[in-house]
Amino acid sequence: MSFSKRMDRVKASGIRAVQKRIASKPEVISFAAGLPDPNLYPLDDYKAALDSLMAERARPAFSYGLTKGYGPLLDLLVRRMREKEGVECTKDNLCILSGSQQGLGLAALMFVDEGDVIITENPSYLGAINACRPYGPEFVGVDTDDDGMVIEDVERVLRENPRAKMIYVIPNFQNPTGKAWTLERRKRFMEVVSQYDVMVLEDNPYGEIRFKGEHLPCLKTLDRKDQVIYLGSFSKIMAPGLRVAWVCAAPEVAAMTERMKETLDLQSPEFTQHFVVSYLEKFDIEPHIAKIQATYKARSDLMLEMIRRHFPASVKYTEPEGGMFLWLELPGGLDADALLDEALEAGVAYIPGESFYANNGPKNTIRMNFTTVSEEQIVKGMEILGNVLKRHIQ
Ligand SMILES: Cc1ncc(COP(=O)(O)O)c(C=O)c1O
Repeated sequence: MSFSKRMDRVKASGIRAVQKRIASKPEVISFAAGLPDPNLYPLDDYKAALDSLMAERARPAFSYGLTKGYGPLLDLLVRRMREKEGVECTKDNLCILSGSQQGLGLAALMFVDEGDVIITENPSYLGAINACRPYGPEFVGVDTDDDGMVIEDVERVLRENPRAKMIYVIPNFQNPTGKAWTLERRKRFMEVVSQYDVMVLEDNPYGEIRFKGEHLPCLKTLDRKDQVIYLGSFSKIMAPGLRVAWVCAAPEVAAMTERMKETLDLQSPEFTQHFVVSYLEKFDIEPHIAKIQATYKARSDLMLEMIRRHFPASVKYTEPEGGMFLWLELPGGLDADALLDEALEAGVAYIPGESFYANNGPKNTIRMNFTTVSEEQIVKGMEILGNVLKRHIQ
């Protein structure tokens, strides 16, 4: 088979490989997932929304629509961006996407040439790194501290890399670390990047799942030069199977997104766009989001309590204020991938952190998911994992 040269750069996802190893062991308690909890979908409300969709707009919902997206959904997003994020935009700034993952793929297609430099948080979301890889960029990772991306390093990397094209960031409850940037750090970051000709790709699928602390403005809110390409998604607050997300960016970026999207999939599913509108018109989503927040907070708090109770004190961990993940750092020298076989044998699974680094990452990190496990499973699974770690850490 003669694939394009670009395909030489495409790597199989390390996460998929782990998930394959887990798939054959259904009895294992898995902290390896990357999904919202399906038990939280408000299915009765979804059924009522579907019923009214079928009664009132079935024919247009089953038909082709515009590449840019279903008009009432775009109107709703103009309001939502204003009310939720303080971003003043019009439909000219928007395009509906088939998941924010499509926004990552389209941004890579539209902006990245071979040899361009893409700056990411270190570690970062593997799906974004992999979306860029076919175009042959160089990745430069910038570490994050407790407040966000280290600004001195952002400045240095921008200064040293005239071909820096894009900075990809997840300021809210990052996948994989669960970290969130402080307001001060968001402001400093925007001040620094505004001095350079560089795009900021702000990926915000978890922004509404804050379960501690105050809501903070997104980078797009602080964007004075139209540098930020903002991606929002209904995947984590409604359901990922809908594949409904959006980009909010400068009009020429939104227009180019629309043009390229047309070549990829013509449009996002008309049916699920209608469904989202039908649900949001009929129901107040806020109590549903509050329920997601409360459930995830309880699970995250419990996971932290179990870490303190069962893990060796030298294991470092993040304390998320939202989202779906926390991040472990084992003492140096330990290999989380090698330990996984032992953990699976004992009955628990996780994702070794190495694959979240664009360039060679350390081997001693782990991503833990707390959204798809019950409190019972967290209590049991964390004790098991603690015992595995204790065998290797004095
Ligand atoms: C940081 C990040 N960006 C994008 C996505 C993709 O989300 P969507 O379902 O909107 O495509 C995910 C999914 O887990 C994610 O963690």
